[in-house]
Amino acid sequence: MNEMITIALSKGRILKETLPLLAEAGIEITDDLENTRKLVFETTDDRVRILILRATDVPTYVQYGGADIGVTGKDVLMEHGAEGLYEPLDLRIARCRLMTAGRAGEKSPRGRVRVATKFVSLAKQYYSAQGKQADIIKLYGAMELAPILGLADEIVDIVDTGNTLRANGLEPRETIASISSRLVVNRASMKMKHAQIQPIIGAMAEAVARRH
Ligand code: ADP
Ligand code: PRP
Ligand code: MG
Repeated sequence: MNEMITIALSKGRILKETLPLLAEAGIEITDDLENTRKLVFETTDDRVRILILRATDVPTYVQYGGADIGVTGKDVLMEHGAEGLYEPLDLRIARCRLMTAGRAGEKSPRGRVRVATKFVSLAKQYYSAQGKQADIIKLYGAMELAPILGLADEIVDIVDTGNTLRANGLEPRETIASISSRLVVNRASMKMKHAQIQPIIGAMAEAVARRH
């Protein structure tokens, strides 16, 4: 049977790097992305449509079957949890690290540590595995400000070049995980639409392999 396949992509930096990989799998958005308020896009394959979402919403859409396939960061997936999702392919794009960081020249406090982050669940797990008591303060952005303004001793955030940390008087401490974007698939879709999904995964895997 030839059913519709819905793919949820993360907007922003991941989108830019995902579109060329999808194009190599024969899937290209036919609308002009710059000049539209649409959220659902048709593609060159009339059985495939694309949603463009916030990275943090992608696992939710895929988990509940709103999309069959998704692309989002490993950080987002670790924070969300893997329930209802397969993660068959590392796309090796949007690579960075999830790290702790604090004020330059200072050490992590010996006792309780105040941690500002948007990765609340990940941070709880990390500090607990380290045997450290942590009070987590949830932020939605600009985590790098929190230690400077005395809101927190440490942050848990994404680091790539380290420029944002340095520019704000911070330094990296521990690496929690290496991050890249992953292809995820709804568990039920993987079974029910295997004949359509497997070739997409295969073609994208080949596109990734050609680049590395
Ligand atoms: P937002 O910050 O609004 O969630 P981004 O496009 O900045 O959206 O980030 C989406 C994903 O890209 C993150 O979840 C992470 O996996 C990755 N990422 C974030 N910042 C960087 C960076 N500076 N370099 C490389 N990858 C990054
Ligand atoms: C991301 C991330 C860090 C920064 C790290 O921010 O949240 O702040 O990149 O990269 P660096 O180590 O190379 O400086 P982004 O540019 O996505 O801004 P945002 O606050 O809009 O997410
Ligand atoms: Mg960002």
